[in-house]
This record gives sequence, C-alpha cells and structure tokens, in this order.
Amino acid sequence: MTEAQANGQHDSQDRTRKPLELPTGLASTQDIPLSYARTISWFSLVLILMCSLVLSFFVSNKAREALLTRQERFAQVLVENLNHQIFQRFALPTLVAHGRIALRQPAQFDRMDQVVKSVIHGLPVARLRIYDPYTRAVAYATDREGLGKQGLAPAKLDAVLESLSTSTTMVSTIPTWQAPFRIPLEKGTFVLQVLCPLRGESIQPDVTPPVMGVLELTQDITGDYEQVMAIQGIIVLMCLMSSMVLFILLHMLLRRAERILAERMLKNRQLENEIHSNEKLVSMGRVVASIAHEIRNPLGIIQSSAELLKSRPDRNDAASSRILAAVYDEALRLSRTVNDFLDYARPVKPNKIPIDLNMVLDQAFAFMEVETQKQHVTVERDTPPDLVIPGDKDLLYRAFYNILVNGLQAMNGEGKMKVTARRENGNVVLEFLDSGPGFDPKTVNSILDPFFTTKEAGTGLGLPIVQSIVISHGGRMELANGETGGALVRVMLPGEGND
Ligand SMILES: Nc1ncnc2c1ncn2[C@@H]1O[C@H](COP(=O)(O)OP(=O)(O)OP(=O)(O)O)[C@@H](O)[C@H]1O
Ligand SMILES: [Mg+2]
Repeated sequence: MTEAQANGQHDSQDRTRKPLELPTGLASTQDIPLSYARTISWFSLVLILMCSLVLSFFVSNKAREALLTRQERFAQVLVENLNHQIFQRFALPTLVAHGRIALRQPAQFDRMDQVVKSVIHGLPVARLRIYDPYTRAVAYATDREGLGKQGLAPAKLDAVLESLSTSTTMVSTIPTWQAPFRIPLEKGTFVLQVLCPLRGESIQPDVTPPVMGVLELTQDITGDYEQVMAIQGIIVLMCLMSSMVLFILLHMLLRRAERILAERMLKNRQLENEIHSNEKLVSMGRVVASIAHEIRNPLGIIQSSAELLKSRPDRNDAASSRILAAVYDEALRLSRTVNDFLDYARPVKPNKIPIDLNMVLDQAFAFMEVETQKQHVTVERDTPPDLVIPGDKDLLYRAFYNILVNGLQAMNGEGKMKVTARRENGNVVLEFLDSGPGFDPKTVNSILDPFFTTKEAGTGLGLPIVQSIVISHGGRMELANGETGGALVRVMLPGEGND
C-alpha cells in the first residue's frame, strides 16, 4: 500500500464547508475609550479632596464655636458668682464699716483680693481686673499689674457700660490661619476676654443697683484651641487618606479594565484576521479544489498508463524505461498532492462508531513496520488495553499515520518513537514522541498553516489534515517539544460519554 492509498480518498463523503461569517460588533469594541474614565478618576480625587477640606473646615469651625460657647457660659457663671461674692463679702461689709469703697487702701484691697481669689481658686482664669467705671483706671488686678493706671481698659469697655451687658472677645497673638502650622502654641496665644459690668444687688425691688465697676476676666484657651486643631488635622488626614485609598483602588480597577480590554481587543483583532484569512482560504480552496478534482482523473490515467508501459520491459529500451519510471513517480507524487489537497479543502465528516484506538494504532504500526525496520527505529508503546471511543477508524488511521510518518522523516535514520495513551476526564489523550530534532521554535507557529513545509517533496498538508480530522471528532491537537528533545504531538479525543 502506498502513502497515497493510505491517505485514501473520500469524495463521496460530506464536502460542505460553510464560510465563516464575521461576527458583527467586533470593530466597535476597539473604539471604547477609557480616557474618560481616567479623567473621571482624577476629577473624583479632586472632588473628594475638596469635599473633605470643606467638611473638615466646617467640623472644626463647629468645634471652635462649641469651645467658645462653653467658655463663655463658664465665664458668665463665674462673673455672676464673683459679682455676688464681691457684693456680699466685700462691698457690703466695707460700706458698712468705712462708708465708702477705696481699693487704694491696702486693707480694702487685700480683703477684695481674698474674696476674688477664693472664688477663682482652681479655675482656669489667667487674670482678673476690675476697672473704675468713672476714671477707666485699673482698680483691681489679680496680678497687681497696672493698678491705678488708665488707658489699659479694652476698647469695648464703654459699650459694656452703656448696654450693661456682657461682651466676649477672643484675642490672639498670631493670625488664626497660622495656628495649625505653629503647633505647639505658646501659652497665651489664644485668650478669651470677657467684660461684664460689676453691679451691687438691689435691696429695694424697684431700684436699679449702681454699677460698681467693670470686671475683665481673661482665660487662656490655647490648650483647648490646640485640641480643636488636632481634631481638624485628624479629619483632614483621614479624608486625605481615604480619598487616596479610593483613588488608588479606582486607578487599579481602571488599569485592570484597560488591560483586559486591550487583551480582548487584541484577541478580537486576531479573530477578525483569522476569519478574513479563513474566508479567503475557503473561497480559494473551493476554486482550487474543483480544479484539482478535474486534474485527478486524467492524472489517474497517466499514472496507470505509465505503470502499464513500465511493466512491459520487452518493449522499452533503458532510456524509455527511465523516462517512464520518472513519469510514473511524478504522476504518483502529483496525485498524492492532489488527494491531500482535496482532503484538506473539503474535510470529511467522520462516520463515528465505537472503535478501539489500540486497533487503529496496530494498523498504523503494521503498515510502517518495513520503514521503521529499515531506519532502525525502535517503537515503544504504552497504551492501556481499553481505548474505545466513538470515531472513524479510517480517518483516525490517516491522522496517526501522518504523525508517525512525520516522526520517521524527522529522525531520518535511527531513533525511537514512543506512543503513550491515557484516559483523562473522560477523554483519551494520545502522545506521539519521536527522538528527532523536535519542532523548530522559529516555525512552530506556522506548522499548522496549509502548505507549510520544510521538505522538498512535502505538501505541507499532513498536519493540517490531522488537525482537521481531530477537530471533526470534537478533539484537540497540541504541538510541543519533549522534555528531553524530539517532537511531541498530543491528540485529545473525546471518550464514549462525550460523543
Ligand atoms: N516530528 C516532527 N519533527 C520535526 N518537525 C516536524 C515534525 N512533524 C512535522 N514537522 C514540521 O512541520 C512541517 C509540516 O508538516 P506536515 O506534515 O504538515 O507537512 P510535511 O510533512 O512537510 O508534508 P507532507 O505531510 O505532505 O509530507 C514539516 O515540513 C516539518 O518542518
Ligand atoms: Mg507530513
């Protein structure tokens, strides 16, 4: 049996092959712009940052207001208490004893000092002063500074005397905006100043008590202010951190999406190219296949005539015999190429019945026995006994035969051909490993292209036909190089249950 016979002819089988259609919408995915998402992520970062700054400003302002309100309330309660204590424990007894109040007299000043200090003892009061309501001079001061001096009274003193109401002012030695950058702040940087009229208590209900002076209470609130700023700092920091984390997450997601999109776009482009070239191949294949079909019959006549003439040596001289042999050989080669091409261009539909792959392998090895012996190639076979799958034994035989012939041709002399089989997830996995040079990494991607060959007399259709047979059985073929060299062809065929 010749290789041409082994490859066989399957004209009668199904030759229909639909051209692949280009999936619609592929091109549109290439136009998906992601730059807008990048802009959005930057925009959201700026937005989150601005929102967090506004929020922190708002929260810290509220905290400062709450602090001031608390201190004001405290100061008012203290001032009321002082007013009462001074009147009860100093003003009344002094008036009764001396007829008039004169703080310049040391005894009266000491009494007053005693009363004031007993009230403010342990409380956060930095300084307390009482101004004379007529001369505006300092009548009393806990630190005794500026006693009797005029011009030390705050500007709001007149307004307080006029309205007889309390006034609160925050005084700072530095601009408020600089405070966060100058932490820790010096003592006395932020001071709360409360001015309040000091009045006697009314003995008769309809008589308004006279104003005895103006009380100035000074509280150092730098510590509290620092705490407010610390809260503000924490809020800003937290907002910054959370927005950074959000931004990084968004950025990572975006990068991932971009990568996936790029990969998909590449795949789509490859698929498109494949579809285009397949379409071209299919239409070209149809034309060439019909020409090849027409060539085959006259070729058969040439081949058989040459064979007939060759078999009549009595009628031929030596030169004619040589020419006839050449005509016969070339006709044979041409007919093999035409048959291979027809097989590839119009792949057959497998006629599947349960077959044992061992039997198919036996047949292929038996057919090649002469050749393997001639080349001194040893055959190692490791296949389990039961390898029944639904398959077309003729087609599978041709597939295995093509793989084995390639192996023998690659070894080109002595060597070893190893065939193993195993069941895996319901499939049968066959591996053909030869001890030749292996697939050339430079051309391995083109090996399955029809007509790719590195052999002088090759058609380059052997492996494409194998692949088409394997695919027609619902299987898969992989080309690789063995761990210790040689070419490895792996064929996966669906088992019985997977038909
Ligand atoms: N076992 C192998 N070891 C190394 N290279 C191989 C092997 N099998 C195939 N190839 C390479 O793949 C190419 C394509 O193989 P394919 O069987 O499709 O065609 P061919 O063998 O060249 O021609 P034909 O099968 O028609 O004789 C070969 O020319 C060869 O370069
Ligand atoms: Mg081949």
